[in-house]
Amino acid sequence: MKIDNDIKSYGNTHNVPITLDDTLCFLCKTIDSEQSKQILEIGTAIGYGAITIATNTDCEHIDTVEVDIDRYNIAKENVLNHNLNDKIMLYNQDALDYIKNCKKTYDLIYLDGPKGQYINYLPYLLKLLKTNGIIVADNLNFHGMVTGDIPISRGCRAMIKGLKAYIETVTTDSSLDTIIHKNLGDGVGVTRKINQ
Ligand SMILES: C[S@@+](CC[C@H](N)C(=O)[O-])C[C@H]1O[C@@H](n2cnc3c(N)ncnc32)[C@H](O)[C@@H]1O
Repeated sequence: MKIDNDIKSYGNTHNVPITLDDTLCFLCKTIDSEQSKQILEIGTAIGYGAITIATNTDCEHIDTVEVDIDRYNIAKENVLNHNLNDKIMLYNQDALDYIKNCKKTYDLIYLDGPKGQYINYLPYLLKLLKTNGIIVADNLNFHGMVTGDIPISRGCRAMIKGLKAYIETVTTDSSLDTIIHKNLGDGVGVTRKINQ
């Protein structure tokens, strides 16, 4: 997998959370094996994930949403530097506003925004997802706090509750088929919207 080490090291030195490479590698393989062409990413940060996907897969288009203006501006510059502005469309917007108002549909949604909101985003995301499409959700372990391997820190309680509710819903809803890869990265969920 081709990665941009400059963007990666910028993220690491400036405390910008970026997707782990094993997770991105899995995501890219999934996009190509599923022949996913239209992608939505929730949480752009500085564009590391979107640029890696655009560079390493046969997808046709990526829409990606970031609420933080500084990160959005850096992502925009990174996308331009990679000549990917025709393939990656960046939105500086709250993800909930985007998914509530979006009229497009997607083959694959990469869910990597605010973790506590996954459960609230889910109904909107399912409307935007084509039948047989996939949601790949990152950080389902949240560093071991979801799995109970480390204690839940005070400020994280609501977020962990939200993540647990997301996992419970996607693994029990009969219209969805979900596999949770606990040992991949920080825990990755793959949810397919099945044809009923
Ligand atoms: C883990 S980072 C995304 C990393 C990115 N997917 C990558 O692979 O490089 C999560 C991002 O979600 C953004 N975010 C948080 N709340 C958001 C919201 N309500 N709407 C859109 N983006 C949000 C954060 O600012 C942060 O940059």
